[in-house]
Amino acid sequence: MKMKAGCSQLKSVVLILIFNLSFYASYQLTELQVCELCSGTVLNGTVVGRFCSSSAGRIDGRCCLRNDNTSNPEHIIGLDLSNCSLTHVEDLQGASTALMIDLSLNPIVNISDTAFQGFIELNYIILPQDIVCPGGNTSWGKVEVKEGTRLCEGQKDMCNQTGQLSINCPENSLCAPYGPGFSECSCADNYHGYKCLREGEFPALQVFGPLGASTVVISFLLWVTQRRKAKSF
Ligand SMILES: *[C@@H]1O[C@H](CO)[C@@H](O)[C@H](O)[C@H]1NC(C)=O
Ligand SMILES: *[C@@H]1O[C@H](CO)[C@@H](O)[C@H](O)[C@H]1NC(C)=O
Ligand SMILES: *[C@@H]1O[C@H](CO)[C@@H](O)[C@H](O)[C@H]1NC(C)=O
Ligand SMILES: *[C@@H]1O[C@H](CO)[C@@H](O)[C@H](O)[C@H]1NC(C)=O
Ligand SMILES: *[C@@H]1O[C@H](CO)[C@@H](O)[C@H](O)[C@H]1NC(C)=O
Ligand SMILES: *[C@@H]1O[C@H](CO)[C@@H](O)[C@H](O)[C@H]1NC(C)=O
Repeated sequence: MKMKAGCSQLKSVVLILIFNLSFYASYQLTELQVCELCSGTVLNGTVVGRFCSSSAGRIDGRCCLRNDNTSNPEHIIGLDLSNCSLTHVEDLQGASTALMIDLSLNPIVNISDTAFQGFIELNYIILPQDIVCPGGNTSWGKVEVKEGTRLCEGQKDMCNQTGQLSINCPENSLCAPYGPGFSECSCADNYHGYKCLREGEFPALQVFGPLGASTVVISFLLWVTQRRKAKSF
């Protein structure tokens, strides 16, 4: 009986590891899918192409990728979806680390309000002329209409505007940018939980949040099923 328990514990650990690895793999996959949204690669002469070579990036399909020396894996810094026959833009989440996105020369009908939510690094976006900048003109330092395109340059920090947004954060929390036109409230140091009411160290929560939660859920399910099995003996 003792040995059996040890064995099932090992099985649980292996299962959890596999689950988390597949979570990571699917994340990587979506990141690369956005680079294959249409055929061709980023060309040298284009805005994204020039940006990529000046940032020491690597071109993969419609993406420019860079490895920032830190512990994070290679990520997208530029996305060139120009002339891709896109009519609707809803989810580019794999490219949320991008600094530059080109969506020009597409017959875009509409762009979802939340398409660029979380794109905190985005500082330059090229759109067809008749599409407004994400978050509106007030979310950008400079908006320019030129040769059939609209350029939105310099994402503004929504927390640093004379307006309501920053005031909306509960006590013990700080306003943080969360993409053009978006902000989020994150708990100040030492506070966590609902409305940041609890105090205490919780530094890794944001980083390990999704993985930790999945591990807890899977562990609990395994515990319940194993327990039921043990009882029935
Ligand atoms: C783009 O530039 C790189 C180096 O500058 C060169 O090796 C490559 O052949 C160029 N590609 C095209 C399609 O011009
Ligand atoms: C990467 O790290 C090395 C050593 O830590 C450093 O010399 C180099 O300048 C870094 N490169 C970049 C692009 O940060
Ligand atoms: C857009 O793509 C089509 C083919 O997919 C090509 O014939 C055309 O020249 C491209 N336009 C531009 C401006 O690159
Ligand atoms: C985009 O346009 C389509 C049809 O034109 C409409 O059904 C859809 O609700 C629109 N989506 C958004 C987010 O506006
Ligand atoms: C946004 O800026 C553009 C370019 O400056 C201008 O043409 C447009 O009218 C502005 N839109 C609004 C709603 O202010
Ligand atoms: C807020 O914006 C103003 C003007 O754009 C700037 O001078 C100031 O330094 C900004 N403050 C912060 C905390 O970013």
